[in-house]
Amino acid sequence: MSENKPWERKAKLGGFLIAPSILSADFARLKEEIDDVTTAGADWIHVDVMDGHFVPNLTIGAPVVKSLRKVTTLPLDCHLMIDNPEKYIPDFLKAGADGITIHVESTPDVAGALQRIRHGGARVGITLRPGTPLEELLPYLEQVDLVLVMTVEPGFGGQSFMPDQVRKVTRLRQEIDARGLRVLIQVDGGITAETVKQVADADCLVAGSAVFGAKNRAAAIAALSRFE
Ligand code: DX5
Ligand code: ZN
Repeated sequence: MSENKPWERKAKLGGFLIAPSILSADFARLKEEIDDVTTAGADWIHVDVMDGHFVPNLTIGAPVVKSLRKVTTLPLDCHLMIDNPEKYIPDFLKAGADGITIHVESTPDVAGALQRIRHGGARVGITLRPGTPLEELLPYLEQVDLVLVMTVEPGFGGQSFMPDQVRKVTRLRQEIDARGLRVLIQVDGGITAETVKQVADADCLVAGSAVFGAKNRAAAIAALSRFE
């Protein structure tokens, strides 16, 4: 772990990085919502970008990231659930995304898309749908800083955690350690104070409803950060 990779700092201390997903926030009050989870202890802000093609839902794009960049100092962690992400990666980089994660199923040129993110100076992430075998992204492990294991079908917040995806997290941890890499493992979908117990091998948790839906968001983040 090195100081020029600031996103690793907390992970190396042994706790989880917590990335609340603004998909479950009140979009009419986005700045206040982000300020609130920042005070509550969030490490990153997870931005779910959907195009209505790769997933059956539409959300937000680079203009919103550009506006959020002006109102938060937390890293903006952009999860692109869009076809041909290479077309839009320059926009997200320009908008101030700190990390960009693309789906291995979303482009015929995965390596090229990852390279664009790398050249733009952002944290490089790759992910996969629950139905995609982990083997499909293992060839890219040396090219990335983060692997996101989806524990729900991408597209919507508030779905139930898929326990059959846990083996991917375990296998990834073995693979990363065996290759001596410094790749972060992130999990996304149905993460709660209960389900987090199954993904102890992860470094970073994305949580939408468990954080934004909680009455006490600081308590919700604390419950995710450290579980017994
Ligand atoms: C789903 C998104 C997730 C979603 C998680 O496609 O990638 O980030 O917001 O929401 P919860 O934590 O409610 O499952
Ligand atoms: Zn996400």
